[in-house]
Amino acid sequence: MAKKLRLENKVAIITGAGSGIGRATALIFSREGAKILVADWSDTGGKETVEQIKKEKGEAIFVKTDVSNAENVNKMADICLAEFGRIDILVNNAGIVKFGPLHETSESDWDTVLNVNLKSVFLCSKKVIPGMLKQGGGKIVNVSSIAGLVGFDQIGSYCASKGGIIALTREMALEYAPRKININCIAPGVIKTAMTKDMIADPAQRQFFESSTPYPRLGESEDIAMATVYLASGESDFVAGEVLVVDGGWTIK
Ligand SMILES: NC(=O)c1ccc[n+]([C@@H]2O[C@H](COP(=O)([O-])OP(=O)(O)OC[C@H]3O[C@@H](n4cnc5c(N)ncnc54)[C@H](O)[C@@H]3O)[C@@H](O)[C@H]2O)c1
Repeated sequence: MAKKLRLENKVAIITGAGSGIGRATALIFSREGAKILVADWSDTGGKETVEQIKKEKGEAIFVKTDVSNAENVNKMADICLAEFGRIDILVNNAGIVKFGPLHETSESDWDTVLNVNLKSVFLCSKKVIPGMLKQGGGKIVNVSSIAGLVGFDQIGSYCASKGGIIALTREMALEYAPRKININCIAPGVIKTAMTKDMIADPAQRQFFESSTPYPRLGESEDIAMATVYLASGESDFVAGEVLVVDGGWTIK
């Protein structure tokens, strides 16, 4: 008997799926039977992800989207409905980081990070929730970070945005769990992606990351993607407003 796929016939929007964690999530969701809308600011990255999914005989479309812009977000979700007829899963993954001392952070950089990382969760969720309510349920997975749980030097706006995602996830879960929209978040540790490439290339930083992680390696995008499949599938129906930490043990010390 053929193995039952964990996301069979589900339709998923994954933001920031043009790279790193979002791309790995899109590929693994597709292998589990989902149709994917890749929403990313990057044309090149977004199209590459779709190509990779199609190469594996999956179904995917790319919509160039700035997740911090309501008009872009609404159009992207409308395209998903027109193409696939429904939205079962939303993964709010797109994110950016800006480095520097808090007292030297410009107001504009602060706003950009908060808008891309946190306001986007509000905008995308606001747009898809009415359809999920009509369908009788859905799944939303927000990608936070361990930087939302513990302090990290020189990335104040990022920490604030990721802590905000955790608080918003709990609120949203409380609000929508009674109507079967299951909302949780993931808090990755240090994962090898474009976002961390320069830091990992620096020997001192790499040594700090490795010595802070009890499990003897840094994280891969697939580590996060596998946890996201769980939170997007029926396997996690009774999990609400949870923060699933996937960090090789960084925060248990
Ligand atoms: N890499 C890590 O160590 C790590 C750790 C914790 C949390 N995270 C979170 O995981 C998520 C994915 O990060 P990643 O490591 O894969 O980084 P990445 O840079 O590889 O991917 C981020 C993707 O988001 C897209 N993006 C950026 N701004 C956007 C916008 N305004 N609209 C649409 N798309 C936009 C980028 O084009 C890119 O494709 C982020 O939310 C990040 O904060 C990453």
